[in-house]
Amino acid sequence: MNERILKACRLERTDYAPIWLMRQAGRYLPEYREIRRKHDLLTICKTPELAAKVAAIPVEKFQMDAAIVFADIILPLEAIGVSVRVDDNMGPVIESPVKTNEQIESFSEFDPQTVSFVYEAIRHTRRALNESVPVIGFSGAPFTLASYMIEGGSSKNFARTKTTMYGDGGFWKALMLKLVHVVSEYLALQVKAGAKILQLFDSWAGCLSPTDYERYVMPYSRAVIRQVNRLGIPLIHFGTDTASLLTLMKEAGGDIMGVDWRIDIDNAWKILGPNHGIQGNLDPAVMLTKDKIVVKYAKQILDKANGQPGHIFNLGHGVLPQTPPENVKILVDFVHSYRVN
Ligand code: CP3
Repeated sequence: MNERILKACRLERTDYAPIWLMRQAGRYLPEYREIRRKHDLLTICKTPELAAKVAAIPVEKFQMDAAIVFADIILPLEAIGVSVRVDDNMGPVIESPVKTNEQIESFSEFDPQTVSFVYEAIRHTRRALNESVPVIGFSGAPFTLASYMIEGGSSKNFARTKTTMYGDGGFWKALMLKLVHVVSEYLALQVKAGAKILQLFDSWAGCLSPTDYERYVMPYSRAVIRQVNRLGIPLIHFGTDTASLLTLMKEAGGDIMGVDWRIDIDNAWKILGPNHGIQGNLDPAVMLTKDKIVVKYAKQILDKANGQPGHIFNLGHGVLPQTPPENVKILVDFVHSYRVN
């Protein structure tokens, strides 16, 4: 198995910085769009053979250093009886947004059977790739999941989530504690299926002030990460727009911190110190330009990382659907060929 990404998680030196891309198995790929014409998104997620086929495409096509299980962050909610839809463009839709304590009480206990597809998807993906690279398992973090549950879907300003958080401490705590349980169990299930790395997506935590993050989010993310740490699997703790939250997110836990492009990687490393790795941090918009510019920006990041052990090359957020696949190939080949001199 190509173990570079596992080594990076342990802060061991590797010949090149391992690379994978968030949303690497998605709409920018003609092979994915072809499968997607015949099956909707949730059908792909819930059919292990299809999920594995899709997850394997970018590894086979570009030699990515890891695969990520094909699922969506909202799916673990099905394990407590929340019905969800996922729209290709709008993202997750929750039919009955959560408003009352009674709703929280009515959620069922975490039922691993309802999300056994994620377990099977991981096993099938490992087999489809002959264990050639590690499979990353993932979940949304409690805050990001809570935001979808309260808003009913995507949001620009998270007004409902924040007013709920500020105004009803009991409700917020009950919801977040429930989510700690869901996320921990869901991640443990993926480790059992053979996921070798976990990523916790707190994609929208960057909408909060550091004070609010510390009070309303950090204790719950920390509780999840503490439980996961017992499984002995490295964890990538990711968020966007989190430059001002990095110290607190590090305190919450994670071996590798994900950063987007709003902070330079050398500055992020100064904040985090040498005992943490960093995943990132190319702006996905760079991937829409010419090959020379892709290489120039990738080189800039690698130069700033300066071969420090624990760099996992990635975009700062998911691959944009309009990204030319040729640019992904150019990026991966360049990162694989780069050596610190
Ligand atoms: O983008 C992130 O911050 C990563 C975390 C995240 C995922 N799904 C992980 C994912 C988030 C926030 C979502 C919600 C979601 N789901 C959105 C964003 C909506 C918003 O609020 O802005 C969207 C558009 C979807 C729908 C979706 N999920 C599509 C179209 C796909 C296929 C891949 C693609 O982007 O074309 C997914 C699958 C998915 N969601 C994966 C992951 C880790 C697996 C695919 C992969 O990463 O290769």
